[in-house]
Amino acid sequence: MAVEQRPEIEALLAEERRFPPDPTFAAQANARADLYEEAERDFEGFWARLARERLDWSKPFETTLEWDLPFAKWFVGGQLNVAYNCVDRHVERGLGDKVAYHWIGEPGDTRTLTYADLKREVSKAANALLELGVRTGDRVAIYMPMIPELPIAMLACARLGAPHTVVFGGFSSEALAGRIDDAQAKVLITADGGWRRGKPVNLKGAADVALQSSSSIENVLVVRRVAEAGEPVEMRPGRDVWWHEIVDRQSEECPPVPVDSEHLLYLLYTSGTTAKPKGIVHTSAGYLLGTSYTHWAIFDVKPDDVYWCAADIGWVTGHSYIVYGPLANATTGILYEGAPDTPAWDRWWQIVEDYKVTILYTAPTAIRAFMKQGSDFPARHDLSSIRMLGSVGEPINPEAWLWYHEHIGGGRAPIADTWWQTETGMILITPLPGITTTKPGSATFPFPGVDADVVDGEGRSVPPGGGGYLVLKRPWPAMLRGIYGDPERYRQTYWSRFEGVYFAGDGAKRDQEGYFWLLGRVDDVMNVAGHRISTIEVESALVDHPAVAEAAVVGKNDPVTGQAIFAFVILRTHAEPSDALIRELREHVAKVIGPIARPKYLLLTPDLPKTRSGKIMRRLLRDVAEGRPLGDTTTLADAGVVELIRSSTGREEE
Ligand code: PRX
Repeated sequence: MAVEQRPEIEALLAEERRFPPDPTFAAQANARADLYEEAERDFEGFWARLARERLDWSKPFETTLEWDLPFAKWFVGGQLNVAYNCVDRHVERGLGDKVAYHWIGEPGDTRTLTYADLKREVSKAANALLELGVRTGDRVAIYMPMIPELPIAMLACARLGAPHTVVFGGFSSEALAGRIDDAQAKVLITADGGWRRGKPVNLKGAADVALQSSSSIENVLVVRRVAEAGEPVEMRPGRDVWWHEIVDRQSEECPPVPVDSEHLLYLLYTSGTTAKPKGIVHTSAGYLLGTSYTHWAIFDVKPDDVYWCAADIGWVTGHSYIVYGPLANATTGILYEGAPDTPAWDRWWQIVEDYKVTILYTAPTAIRAFMKQGSDFPARHDLSSIRMLGSVGEPINPEAWLWYHEHIGGGRAPIADTWWQTETGMILITPLPGITTTKPGSATFPFPGVDADVVDGEGRSVPPGGGGYLVLKRPWPAMLRGIYGDPERYRQTYWSRFEGVYFAGDGAKRDQEGYFWLLGRVDDVMNVAGHRISTIEVESALVDHPAVAEAAVVGKNDPVTGQAIFAFVILRTHAEPSDALIRELREHVAKVIGPIARPKYLLLTPDLPKTRSGKIMRRLLRDVAEGRPLGDTTTLADAGVVELIRSSTGREEE
C-alpha cells in the first residue's frame, strides 16, 4: 500500500486560484467562523449543545460520549424516534403544508408530498409492516427505484425502530441475496420496476431470483410502478403483497417508537478490500445530528430553499443528504427517478428551471459527463435560482470545478467539495460557505469538531506540503459503530493500521496553508463514477466463470468516471480466446455484481506479474493499463511477463 506520486497531483497543488466568500453571501450564512473555536475548545460540549438544540428527545441523554476505542456511544441514556424528528415534529409546528419532496418520474409524471402527506404515508406504511409482523429490531431490506415510496419505506422502518438495509436498485440479484442473508432481513420492500432511459428495470424479477437463494424473507411488499405500462409481474401467493393493497387501507395513526440513541437505524453494505461487502452499522441519534447539522451548515439551507441532492438513495449520500439530514431540517427537496440524459442532456437543467432549485449537490462524474456534452445544454435554461453547489464521491479536478462554478453556478454560487464515506455517515472535510476561501480541487478543512490529519507510514503527522494517509483522530457523532456481526473486522479494517486513529483508506496532502487535497484510495478499492468497487470483488466474479483461471483488476484513470475498471484475465487451457468470450466475461461481472462493475477494459493475457512470493504486482498492471513506462520491476519473479502482457492481443474496450 503506497501513495503513488502522480504528476497530475503535483499540478493540482500548484493551483493558485482562490475563491474568497462573497460578502453578501457571508452576511446571511448559517455557518459562523467561531464554530471552529467553540468545537476545538470542547468537541463533546459542542455536539452536546447541538443535540439538545436541534433534536427532539423522548428522554434526554445523560452522557455525551462513551469512547471505548474503537467503539463509540453517543448521547447515552437518551431516547428519540428518527421518523418523528424527520416528519411529525414539523407538522406539529405548523409546517404540514410545506413540501417535503417534489418527485419527478423519468417518463414525466410528478408527485408532490408535503410534510403532512409524508406523515400520513409513513404511518400507513409502518402499520402495514406491523401487520406483516415486523417489530422493533427486525431488519427490513429495501430494493427500490427512486420513487417516493423509497424514503417512505425507510421512514416507516425508522418509525418502528426496525433497521433497514437499502440495496441500490442497480445491484444484481446475487448482491441483493448476499445482503439479505447477512442482515437476516424479514421483509423485502421492492417495486415491480422503475424507469431508466425510457425502459422499465425489472426489479421484482431480480428480487425473485435473489429470494431463491436467501431464506430469511417472509414477505415481499411490492410497489406498483411499471405494471400500468403493461409490464408483466409475478406475485407469489402468501409471500408477495402489493403495497397499494395493504398500505392504502391502514390507519393514518401509528405512534413512533422511542428508541435508545444507539439503536441500529440502518445497515448499508459497501465494498472493502475483500470480496465480501461490509455491513456498515449506523445508529440513531448521533447519525441524525451529524447529518442534519452538516446539511444545515454546509449547504446553508434556509426555509425557502429548494434543495436537490441528485444521488441515488441506495448510496450513503442519499441516506444522509436526501433522506435523514434534509428531512430533519424540514427542507424542500427534489427527487428525480431517472437518467440525466433522458430525454436529452438538459433534463437536470429543465428540472432546476421548473422547480427553481437553489442548492444542487452532485458528483464530479456527473459534472464531467455534462461538460462533455457542452455548455449549450445548461445555457438553454434559466439557472439563476442556484445559489449553492456541492460535490461528493471522488476528487474533483479543477477543470470540472471551474466548469461547474461558471456554467451551473453562474460564477456566483460557492462550491462545497465534501469529503466523507459510507463509514463516516456525515461530511467531514469541506468548506463552509460564507467563511472558507476555496481552491478548485481542494476539500479545504475538517468540519468543526473533526480532527483529521495526514500521516506517514509510521503514523507520524506529515508537515505541510507533504503527502500521506488520511486519518481521523477523534470520534464524531455519525461515525459507523461497526461492521455488522464482525467487530474484529471493524477493528482490523479501520483501527489497526495506525494505533488509536481511524484509517480512511485515502491518500491526502496538506498544502502550506493547511488545505486538504484528497488523492484517491490507497487500498484495493476503485472509485468508478463515485461508486466504490473492490478490485477483489470483480476478480472473484471473474474467476467464478468456468473459462477463467486467474484475474487481476485495477482502476485506470478515466476522463468521465474518474476511474474505469481494467481486468487482466488468464483463461483456463480449455477455453478458446475470442471477442465473444471477452464480451461474455464482462457481462458475467455485470450479472454477478451489477452493471456498474462491468469492466470497461478486459485483456486476455497468458500471465500476470508476480513477486517471488506470488503476490500480484498491481502497480505494474496500473502502469500497463495507463500505457505509461513501467516502474521498478526488480522484485518481479519473471521480468519478461509485463512485455508479454503488453503484447497481448485479446482485448476489448467499451
Ligand atoms: O476515496 C474517497 C472518495 O469516496 C470514498 C468513499 O466512498 P463511499 O463510501 O462510496 O462514499 C461516497 C460518498 C460519500 C472515499 O474514501 N471520496 C468521497 N468524497 C470525496 C472523495 N474523494 C475526494 N474528494 C471527495 N470530496
